[in-house]
Amino acid sequence: MPRIHIIGVGGYLPERVMTNKDLEAIVDTDDQWIFERTGIRQRHIISEGEHTSDLAAAAARQALDDAGLTIADIDALIVATTTPDMIFPSTASIVQSKLGASGFPAWDIQAVCSGFVYGLAHADAMMRGGMFRRVLLIGAESMSRIMDWTDRSTCVLFGDGAGAVVLEARDAGDEPQGGIIGSVLKADGSYRPLLMARHPHPGASPDMPDMAVDAAGVAAVEMQGNEVFRNAVNKLGEVVGDVLAHCHMQPSDVDLLIPHQANIRIINATAKKLKLGTENIAITVEKHANTSAASVPLALNTYYREGKIRKGQVLLLEAFGAGFVWGANLLRWSKD
Ligand code: ACO
Repeated sequence: MPRIHIIGVGGYLPERVMTNKDLEAIVDTDDQWIFERTGIRQRHIISEGEHTSDLAAAAARQALDDAGLTIADIDALIVATTTPDMIFPSTASIVQSKLGASGFPAWDIQAVCSGFVYGLAHADAMMRGGMFRRVLLIGAESMSRIMDWTDRSTCVLFGDGAGAVVLEARDAGDEPQGGIIGSVLKADGSYRPLLMARHPHPGASPDMPDMAVDAAGVAAVEMQGNEVFRNAVNKLGEVVGDVLAHCHMQPSDVDLLIPHQANIRIINATAKKLKLGTENIAITVEKHANTSAASVPLALNTYYREGKIRKGQVLLLEAFGAGFVWGANLLRWSKD
């Protein structure tokens, strides 16, 4: 059975930066509160006329360049997003077209903030089964489009962006230690009232009539922050243990934790559980905020481009999001 390797990495952040100071002019908040509670100083915001598919396509181009490939070398395209351009068609099929391709399969994964971690497990299983040789996996979000910009408890937390990887199936004999080692995925929909953005169509959530909407009448994020925080810490702590056990590895085998970038306090709790020092944790939440499905690949891209990931290192990726859905992947970096 082949092993699946990351052979290209890319990212894209919209040009416009919104700092905590900028937010002070919009809602009753301040830089100190936001930074102390979350670790966030700024976020990037998509511009008018730009769409999730544009961010995704830009990240994908960089990942293809990094792999030394073109879109013609790709066999399947997956976009993890919770902020698609439209209800249908899928953002993946729009991205495929924007990249100038057609023919090969393209589809979206909706696992909110865990979308990239789910997507990596999904692609790994399909590729090991022989279905595809090269897959382009993208996490892309325009979370600013589903914010209630009058709700200070949510609008300060999120940002927009995209991250992408090119995956390649290689004969296990060539590099028996490298590539994706294993994944664990979890979900429990009974927690859905704690964090959601309801369907924009009237009547789509008849059991929950008091839908939060933004100024334009679009469904916005609703969250019980304390409960989400508590569950994220507990469930991420469990799942990093589960993926290590699944792969017969120890916390001491992990060289770099690439966590979902929601809140520095959640990240530090997981790192503490694994007894990892600051130098072993990828942290981008300060500059990117929570970009949902884009946050893990954006952090991966940032650390990769800064030369902080070396061949042979073991990376642990984890994420937690609405549903709740959560999960983790372990991989050994095989790229120079
Ligand atoms: N600025 C200033 N004050 C604020 C703000 C703000 N932006 N937001 C809330 N407050 C106030 C509240 O009104 C409250 O005031 P009160 O005591 O007078 O009532 C006070 O600050 C404390 O509010 P809490 O909600 O208890 O603050 P907490 O310490 O829990 O921090 C936070 C809130 C940052 C949202 C935290 O609960 C959290 O990070 N939760 C996880 C949420 C998350 O990351 N969700 C993303 C999706 S899921 C995921 O990606 C993991």
